[in-house]
Amino acid sequence: MAVVRTGRRRAAPGLATVVALVFAAALCSLLLAPHAVADAPPIPGSPLDAYDKQVPYDVGAHKLARLAALIAYVLMVATVVLGVVLRLRFMQRAVNRATFYGAHTTLALSAMIFGGIHGLTFVYQPVWQIGWTRLAVPFTGGVQRVPVGLGILGVELAVAVACSVWLQRRLGYHRWLRVHQLAYVSFGLIWLHIFLVHPEPRHLNLVSVGIAAGAGTILLAFLIRALPSRSRLRRRAFPGGTGVVE
Ligand code: HEM
Repeated sequence: MAVVRTGRRRAAPGLATVVALVFAAALCSLLLAPHAVADAPPIPGSPLDAYDKQVPYDVGAHKLARLAALIAYVLMVATVVLGVVLRLRFMQRAVNRATFYGAHTTLALSAMIFGGIHGLTFVYQPVWQIGWTRLAVPFTGGVQRVPVGLGILGVELAVAVACSVWLQRRLGYHRWLRVHQLAYVSFGLIWLHIFLVHPEPRHLNLVSVGIAAGAGTILLAFLIRALPSRSRLRRRAFPGGTGVVE
């Protein structure tokens, strides 16, 4: 139902606080993570695990998986940042909105393609025990069921967020935007996947610093997006609007 609101109302900072706390907790666990113990069991899905299980390990597929994952992560961060830029109408005078729109969708499609390639490589890595069905349906078993399932769910949610564009007219712009905002959840799931599936991002190295920098960028973009008052957002995002919100 349409409601006319006249007074200024600040957006509740609750969600932003929760996201900030989760991020701080993850950062603490990164710093306090125990270092690898020499006699610890091999990381499930690693070359050592394949050796123990007497199954072949394809180093080429592993390198492809890693490269595709890194590219997909960078593209995903850029997609979300440009989404926030689009939403908040930043730099509108300097850059045409259509240019930002084109860049946002191109980056989104590229991120999903590289995310898909990353997942596909595991079909060719026997130690992961992933077939086409397990690749399509999250949490259906294989090695590291939950961390892998989070990654599959995250990519599928990103695909759904992108495909929702076709429903824009049917849903109406504001309702579509609510669906589109699931992009933040999608990034959160993918980040959890990265954090849980391998110990590398939990130790201090170049990759973990890059992953933390990406997550920090998204957190900052999210906070900038979440913290301004609704009235300011409405004024900037819907110039000439009537003040009527759904
Ligand atoms: C390829 C199809 C996509 C199209 C056509 C599209 C289009 C848009 C548009 C037009 C906006 C600005 C909304 C506004 O100004 O009111 C936006 C915002 C946004 N997009 Fe996309 N997008 C696509 C895919 C994605 C994907 C795959 C992601 C990430 C998983 C994503 C993340 C975002 C985010 C985070 C925002 C800001 C939403 C907000 O905070 O309200 N987009 N998108």
